[in-house]
Amino acid sequence: MSDHQDLIDRDRKVTFHASTHLRDFAHGDMPGRVITGGKGINIVDKDGREFIDGFAGLYCVNIGYGRTEVAEAIYQQALELSYYHTYVGHSNPPQIALSEKILELAGPGMSKVYYGMSGSDANETQLKIVRYYNNVLGRPQKKKVISRMRGYHGSGIASGSLTGLKAFHDHFDLPIDTIRHTEAPCYYLRSAEQEGMSEREFSRHCAARLEEMILAEGPETVAAFIGEPVLGTGGIVPPPEGYWQEIQAVLAKYDVLLIADEVVCGFGRIGTDFGSHFYGIKPDLITVAKGLTSAYQPLSGVIVGDRVWQVLEQGTGEFGPIGHGWTYSGHALGCAAGLANLAIIEREGLTQNAAETGAYLQTRMQQAFGEHPIVGNVRGVGMLAALEFSPAPSARRAFDPALKVGPRIAAAALDENLIARAMPQGDILGFAPPLVTTRDEVDEIVARAKRAVDRVLDELTNSGDLQN
Ligand SMILES: Cc1ncc(COP(=O)(O)O)c(C=O)c1O
Repeated sequence: MSDHQDLIDRDRKVTFHASTHLRDFAHGDMPGRVITGGKGINIVDKDGREFIDGFAGLYCVNIGYGRTEVAEAIYQQALELSYYHTYVGHSNPPQIALSEKILELAGPGMSKVYYGMSGSDANETQLKIVRYYNNVLGRPQKKKVISRMRGYHGSGIASGSLTGLKAFHDHFDLPIDTIRHTEAPCYYLRSAEQEGMSEREFSRHCAARLEEMILAEGPETVAAFIGEPVLGTGGIVPPPEGYWQEIQAVLAKYDVLLIADEVVCGFGRIGTDFGSHFYGIKPDLITVAKGLTSAYQPLSGVIVGDRVWQVLEQGTGEFGPIGHGWTYSGHALGCAAGLANLAIIEREGLTQNAAETGAYLQTRMQQAFGEHPIVGNVRGVGMLAALEFSPAPSARRAFDPALKVGPRIAAAALDENLIARAMPQGDILGFAPPLVTTRDEVDEIVARAKRAVDRVLDELTNSGDLQN
């Protein structure tokens, strides 16, 4: 038996894997893979097989794999001080420097950073802040948070409730009762009655639906709205034209806080420091993780805007120290990794590369798939792209889910040694390559993806599944 197979067999016996068919994996009915190394945009498994990672892990390894500079920064920090808590005013030098850097990048209006370890826990913090804020302001009934169907905000009890994907709710008794979900801004998936709508009209329609929900719930009960600048796990869907302007006008009208979940877009992925800058979003609170350290260490953050911060200060003036804290908040190794990562992004101009090479990625995807017989929609922005498959592209019709077209195309891509992600909602293949990706590498990603899609097209044609 190969070393690789031996490791996989041991793994099946002992590990509970994230987002995995637990029974099939434990019983050997689905493959495993042990990843042992990575360099640039490539990863390698225990057999030495190399893949292009067209999804940067889970859209997080933005500076690419194997950056010794970050490893060195973590090591040096560990030699000095790996950890001390940050309760009751304690700090460490990398935390201070990282907060300064994050606030500089976030721009005016942002006041403080609170750290966690994951996007999910950062969104838990957001929900607690929103509750506390309204309690301090004497509005205890203003507690509901509106998210969007197809939004992704984590998989805890509260953050998983914010997530608007069925698989994260079913059998977990979620969402909790203070969370609502409004319509997803998916122009491509608009209904037949909305066929003639322009993008702008569709954005107005989404804002009108949000306003209806706020009014139905009672504006005095709605505390916040949370959204990703670009819907990520829900299908990599850039917003329709004017969407964020329309949404923000509604939120302002009813005094509803705006939380921008920048876990994917933050730190350059769509060609600006934050996705909010790209779309003219003025959030009260921002969630960051992933690209903050390019996943060299787990680290997340909540960036608190001035307006909210003032109320938090007022609250502790009245009630004493805030009852919120994680043991690992502001972990020195995470902050050291974050600083080294952001220094690389700045020095190598990776945000600019995401804008320029990202534009090239979008062009190449359109060229390869714009007229493809089973591709209904080619979309993306910066270094985020998606293909949505359809048996009748002009009718925007979906495949029968039983055909599992998305997962089959992702598997065919894997045969081409390309990792692209079958997104959980619909037959969608997602791409989010590291921000260091070059034009030549984009060409290679697109070429491999094209061979994979063509192969499944042939299979569907041969099995007669394209006829219906
Ligand atoms: C937008 C967004 N928010 C939150 C999360 C949750 O982050 P984590 O998986 O680190 O808990 C994710 C993860 O993919 C995400 O994409």
